[in-house]
Amino acid sequence: MYKIAVLPGDGIGREVTEQAVKMIRRLGEVFHLVFEMDEALVGGASIDRFGAPIVPETLTLAQNADAVFLGAVGGPKWDSVEISKRPEKALLGLRQSLDVFANLRPIRVFPELASQSPLKAEVVKDLDFLIVRELVGGIYFGTPRGVKSLPSGGEAGVNTEIYTTPEIERIAKKAFEFARRRRRKVTSVDKANVLESSQLWRKVVNQVRQSFPDVALDHRYVDDCAMQLIRNPRQFDVIVTTNLFGDILSDESAMLTGSIGMLPSASLGHSHALYEPVHGSAPDIAGKDIANPLAAILSVAMMMQYSFNLIELARVVEQAVEKTLAEGYRTLDIDQEGMQRVGCSKMGDLVAQRIKNL
Ligand code: IPM
Ligand code: MN
Repeated sequence: MYKIAVLPGDGIGREVTEQAVKMIRRLGEVFHLVFEMDEALVGGASIDRFGAPIVPETLTLAQNADAVFLGAVGGPKWDSVEISKRPEKALLGLRQSLDVFANLRPIRVFPELASQSPLKAEVVKDLDFLIVRELVGGIYFGTPRGVKSLPSGGEAGVNTEIYTTPEIERIAKKAFEFARRRRRKVTSVDKANVLESSQLWRKVVNQVRQSFPDVALDHRYVDDCAMQLIRNPRQFDVIVTTNLFGDILSDESAMLTGSIGMLPSASLGHSHALYEPVHGSAPDIAGKDIANPLAAILSVAMMMQYSFNLIELARVVEQAVEKTLAEGYRTLDIDQEGMQRVGCSKMGDLVAQRIKNL
């Protein structure tokens, strides 16, 4: 039996999570497995109900689960809430309390969608690389932080980018391990020409590399990397980087695939794991049944693989997605001339129907 905490959150997080749940149920039926799912509120939904973006019971539920699925949090309704009580705090608190330090964001262009990319199809053809983003450190969590008044008048806003040796070691090690299962190339991204924290980052990544002599390593500054991702994205295999740089580069990379609606993620720690589609809550399209559930569904595939070691099931889910796309079904964000437009729930049904026992 596998215990899954399900946290739909806000906006389209709820619609896409429904499709993820549909997928998990279907996998349970077809493969005779028991997935026990418990749902709870997070983000704005939790603020409205309990006055806090996440309550201790929900943290406990997540901590006791074998895997956590999260839809998305946030929306304009809570934009004026102070930063320590914003919906996003739920997500950051969850990541931190589960200590899921390694955020995997695979960037893969499905052949059917290559023409959807804003880049030329030949630049993104067969694109397949992995972003390994440090998720529980850096400027997102560093102290001192805050806004204070200055004696001279006005205010100062402060955040701190800080990385310690063990934090860099563990994320670098993950990146090299994943590279070993791929094309054995790691690109470490930093801003070592300006930031001391990046200088330490680079030094420690070089040290960790010594245990992985079979993996190639290069270093790039983040601005250069942002450019290379557009110029020649196929040069990358595994990109390892800090929390903030990873946040930015993964949205940029998502667009290479045609739509951020296609991008799944897994956040792994030593004893917990959290799965989320990379897109946010997209309040502008929420509740209209037009969101793309494929990122959520592909996050379920990652859950099968990384939390339950059900690698064949992960492939089955990915193949069901490929088949559905190949048959011409598209949500709004990836729609094309001559394709069959479907809504969020219908897309979930179509993929679920294509899950068959091997
Ligand atoms: C992401 C999101 C989050 C982040 C926000 C919602 C806090 O943008 O998962 O990439 O910045 O990590
Ligand atoms: Mn982001």
